[in-house]
Amino acid sequence: MPLARPVVLGNWKMNGLKADALALVGRLAARAAHPSGTLGVFPPATLVGPVAQRLSASRILVGGQDCHEAESGAFTGSISAAMLADVGAKAVIVGHSERRHGLGEDDALVKAKAEAALAQGLLVVLCIGETEGEYLAGERDAVLTRQLDGSLPDGGTAENLVVAYEPVWAIGTGRTPSQEEIKETHTLLRALLVERVAGGADVALLYGGSVKAENAADIMAMADVDGALVGGASLDADSFWSIYTAGGGA
Ligand code: PGA
Repeated sequence: MPLARPVVLGNWKMNGLKADALALVGRLAARAAHPSGTLGVFPPATLVGPVAQRLSASRILVGGQDCHEAESGAFTGSISAAMLADVGAKAVIVGHSERRHGLGEDDALVKAKAEAALAQGLLVVLCIGETEGEYLAGERDAVLTRQLDGSLPDGGTAENLVVAYEPVWAIGTGRTPSQEEIKETHTLLRALLVERVAGGADVALLYGGSVKAENAADIMAMADVDGALVGGASLDADSFWSIYTAGGGA
């Protein structure tokens, strides 16, 4: 079964200490232990286990923000997909721009990470997006096509794969593409997914980058926008919940 819509996922990035994190997910679970759509949180690695445990009686999804491509080994500081699954994670983000651009991860590495995650039964949230320079140079569609082609995992389906379009220049900036631009990119990505992935018509396609309670309804109302990947606004239970309900979730 494809994921229930809307798919609204919160990427906490390097934010959250245990007490606040558990309080936040407690407030979410009090709103909907069994959400109608797909609601997920991606705490920092230190909190994946405690948060998963806190949410074990709910259907709110818990995931990691990244994983290593190997199953285990001499990789100081890294975490494998098996380790995430072991503490209760059901999903993992790969290819976030803060890793692609901040840490130099390329498409081949992102693909290897995604395949490692699939091998552990995790839902893969694959992020792609153009930089501001690429956007201004009119290279957006070429960049997105190249990133998708290079990082889509073999074995991806509508059940185990989510693709998030996150323009790098919209992340944490308060700026978003126009409705028309989001429509263009999602139409392109949908066509590519249909060509390249089994059941690609049903793979959840998210928009991410400065999604807030105020713009969430307009963004998620668009065809081929199945939900949102939310950064800053996911750190507050009320604003995250508002985004989820703006997308039709209950
Ligand atoms: P933002 O981040 O919502 O704070 O812009 C989105 C993301 O990086 O996933």
